Amino acid sequence: MEKHLNLTLQVWRQKDGKSEGSFVDYPAKHISTEMSFLEMLDVVNEDLIRKGEDPIAFDHDCREGICGTCSMVINGRPHGPKERTTTCQLHMRSFSDGDTITIEPWRAKPFPVLKDLIVDRGAFDRIIAAGGFISAPTGCGQDANALPVPKQNADLAMDAAACIGCGACVAACPNASAMLFVSAKVSHLALLPQGQPERYSRVRDMVAQMDSEEFGTCTNHGECEAACPKGITMENIARMNRDFIKSSLTFRPEIASGGAG
Ligand code: SF4
Ligand code: FES
Repeated sequence: MEKHLNLTLQVWRQKDGKSEGSFVDYPAKHISTEMSFLEMLDVVNEDLIRKGEDPIAFDHDCREGICGTCSMVINGRPHGPKERTTTCQLHMRSFSDGDTITIEPWRAKPFPVLKDLIVDRGAFDRIIAAGGFISAPTGCGQDANALPVPKQNADLAMDAAACIGCGACVAACPNASAMLFVSAKVSHLALLPQGQPERYSRVRDMVAQMDSEEFGTCTNHGECEAACPKGITMENIARMNRDFIKSSLTFRPEIASGGAG
């Protein structure tokens, strides 16, 4: 049954990437439990605009859990601690009347704050550009079933392809590691026959780009998996590590053949 909540928001406000930011309190009154978290922010912003104040800047696009842009840390957890989903799919029925909710941007060096809750996740785009593609001709839609794929591999590839590039894994990791994201993209293509021609150059190039973007290393905390709204598992990291080792052998033939080096 629909109820209404009166809340206090503690929101990170930061004019731009060069300015210092701070938390600012805002009341959020008469918020329907049927609203999504972003709709609640819309209501608060309409109030700010009416008063001639600068609305809270936040990223969003699909509002359906698909695009991965609605990135924010809610009460200390990426996408919030209440439901394992994206912020746009988080509902206000998960909160209680009188709650104080803190809202911050992703905190990671490779994701610099642009304004308020919006960060620049261009580092992810550059990692994809480094190798997240195939060159094999795959034909048109009607050719989709022409190349048989073992069921288990098809299922695992589909699971990995569920990654929406939101960056919650990076924001949750104490090292700001991007291993879960990169391993999902590497696994998705490495599990399919169409991804084989670039399989080992892909993992090498994407990991090199990840490192150059200054993401941290993985030390198996598991916070990434716990925060991921799409259920991407750390098995993908193990698969990527195996492929990365094989790529070193592939590109250093003296080792692959057992020679010195
Ligand atoms: S692995 Fe999960 S948390 Fe990380 S970018 Fe992909 S969907 Fe988001
Ligand atoms: S707005 Fe697209 S996933 Fe949330």
